[in-house]
Amino acid sequence: MNKIVKSVLAILMAGIAIQLFPYGRNHANPPVIGEPAWDSPATRVLAKKACFDCHSNETTWPWYSRIAPVSWLVYRDVVEGREHLNFSEWRGGSRKGESSQEITKEISEGEMPPLQYYIVHPEAKLDGPAKKQLIDGLAATAAGSARQ
Ligand code: HEC
Repeated sequence: MNKIVKSVLAILMAGIAIQLFPYGRNHANPPVIGEPAWDSPATRVLAKKACFDCHSNETTWPWYSRIAPVSWLVYRDVVEGREHLNFSEWRGGSRKGESSQEITKEISEGEMPPLQYYIVHPEAKLDGPAKKQLIDGLAATAAGSARQ
């Protein structure tokens, strides 16, 4: 067999073989236990648009999240994201106690959502005013939740 054909076959076989790893296949969304007391419905809309896929139990799992190795990356983002901050399991605050200052910082410095998210979710990119609205809204929401 010609060398190129052999290499292509080897790559194809490897591509199929990695589909067999079970990691990243669990796309069951856990139940929504409790959301924060949103300061306004608009804040929730913006958070849902930009943050919920990784920071809630309402993740939308697109078709490519079923195909390794992308599935591994998406899965890791969701598991880690939910660990830090989960709007569906609020219980008076985020799980690791991320303060609203930290949330503000992540958004205003452009750390969140992570850059790779925009490649497939350009709609999650918030313009300046929307970003500010989300930051202010989340701060007000966190302050309101803390008082309860
Ligand atoms: C593509 C998935 C994804 C999206 C979308 C996303 N995040 Fe995250 N987020 C993560 C992951 C993964 C981590 C944990 C690892 C890290 O800090 O990078 C995280 C961590 C965080 C942290 C904790 C940071 C720290 O250092 O402890 C905050 C706060 C946060 N995200 C806020 C947000 C907000 C607000 C949004 C929406 C504007 C958002 N994230 C959107 C994946 C995401």
